[in-house]
Amino acid sequence: MINRDGACVSLWQDSAQPYTPANKLNSKTIYDVIIAGGGITGISTALSLQKAGKNCLVLEANTLCFGTTGGTTAHINTLLDTSYTTISKNFNKETAKLVAQSTKEAIALIRNNIKEYGIECGFEETDAYLFAQTEEQEKELDKIKDATIEAGVTAEYSAYIPVPINHTKCLKVTGQAKFIPTQYVYGLASAFEKAGGVIAENSRITNAEENDTIKVETNAGEFTGKALIYATHIPPTVNLLHLRCSPYRSYAMAVTLKANNYPEGLCYDMFDPYHYYRSQKINGKNYLIVGGYDHKTGHDENTENNFRKLEAHIRKHFDVDTIAYRWSSQYFEPADGLPYIGQMPGHPGKIYTATGYGGNGMVYSSVAALLFKGILLNEESPYLRVYDPNRIKPVAGFVNFIKHNADVVKHFVGKWLPHDELDETSALAAGEGKVIKYNNQKIALFKDENNELKAVSPICTHLKCEVKWNNAERSRDCPCHGARYAASGDVLTGPANSGLEPIEIKSLIEK
Ligand code: FES
Repeated sequence: MINRDGACVSLWQDSAQPYTPANKLNSKTIYDVIIAGGGITGISTALSLQKAGKNCLVLEANTLCFGTTGGTTAHINTLLDTSYTTISKNFNKETAKLVAQSTKEAIALIRNNIKEYGIECGFEETDAYLFAQTEEQEKELDKIKDATIEAGVTAEYSAYIPVPINHTKCLKVTGQAKFIPTQYVYGLASAFEKAGGVIAENSRITNAEENDTIKVETNAGEFTGKALIYATHIPPTVNLLHLRCSPYRSYAMAVTLKANNYPEGLCYDMFDPYHYYRSQKINGKNYLIVGGYDHKTGHDENTENNFRKLEAHIRKHFDVDTIAYRWSSQYFEPADGLPYIGQMPGHPGKIYTATGYGGNGMVYSSVAALLFKGILLNEESPYLRVYDPNRIKPVAGFVNFIKHNADVVKHFVGKWLPHDELDETSALAAGEGKVIKYNNQKIALFKDENNELKAVSPICTHLKCEVKWNNAERSRDCPCHGARYAASGDVLTGPANSGLEPIEIKSLIEK
């Protein structure tokens, strides 16, 4: 099993073994490109660039697939979360066509990689089914059908849907796919290393300074590159993109069914948030994977309850044998509906990023790989303009945003708090966490399985918002820009790049 950014275990995580990087890291080498992030975007991009003759280094803060790549449900779509109706409205019809074309090319890249490197990852090309259940949804579906076809994606109404759910109308879209994301990324990582690339795990970037080259500081040493790509789901530091991408959590379950009637295809209802369904065979066993109940990160008091709702939904429609896995994961919703891939706003040099994929990370990660290859090889592409992060305009009050909450910081260095009083005030059961107020100071507490009480500051190290306890994943999630921390305070998800301040607690009673 590999590690992931939460306490729940995903289907992919459980079936993968830790990846062992083969090539030696050399801190004296000046790399052509340093890529931060060992998820699907980082590794897809690294392989594309290494193959094109660039000498690349991947710096992963934890281990490969630790982030959302290990927690996605891995739908590979040209039928996107942001409908072509919305893309045409927010941008124009030409942009909708370019988005459709780029996502088709991304799926072709995945298909070619799998073939070229013989990657066994359960890849299957399939259809997607988007179904309406109300009159209002039917009207919306009519518009989506027209805009999807106009964008160049093949779609038609279908009398058949693969899931046993009542519906009034269903749109079938061809040319979609699914796979096992961890196996795909491992296959790419191995191909990248064989091509001479280097992967360094447990190397979190803490600072990057751009002059003629870019000096990157990590907890594992300093490295130099001629370009830096943040493939970290959301870039660290303080950036306009943090105002343009909202973090969300989504919940998923992998279940086995009593009858062997696993649906083919990718299916979606039209509620907001919507439910999504697909199946996957892994290690010879079939699973139905269903997801939904999305909410803004750090904005749900009882995240565990989303699993209850999801389970009830699945049992209502399917004859479930076992609930094998349940997990949640994070995604970033872009303000205008399209991802931001390219030069990082505020960095006119050679620092790049890819973020704001919404729920379509599997396909946009390969769009990013294609785009970054074009950018770094100075190739023209009509897609660069479509996804350019600098399409966003500077926001009034951005300076205030940077100073956000700066006055609430209280430091605990050299102080300690009494264990027994905190224990009594918090009344936590084993495995529970919460933020309490003690002597006018907010303290984030957690009681582990051995009834040991741990305390950290609840102030997010990114821009000082107060983190919330996520009882489903036993993490501390920041409602502002989506940073997440383990109960111990260690960083799970950026944009924070340092952990929550630890607080010493001591027992006054001799035991
Ligand atoms: Fe920005 Fe916490 S993620 S303040």
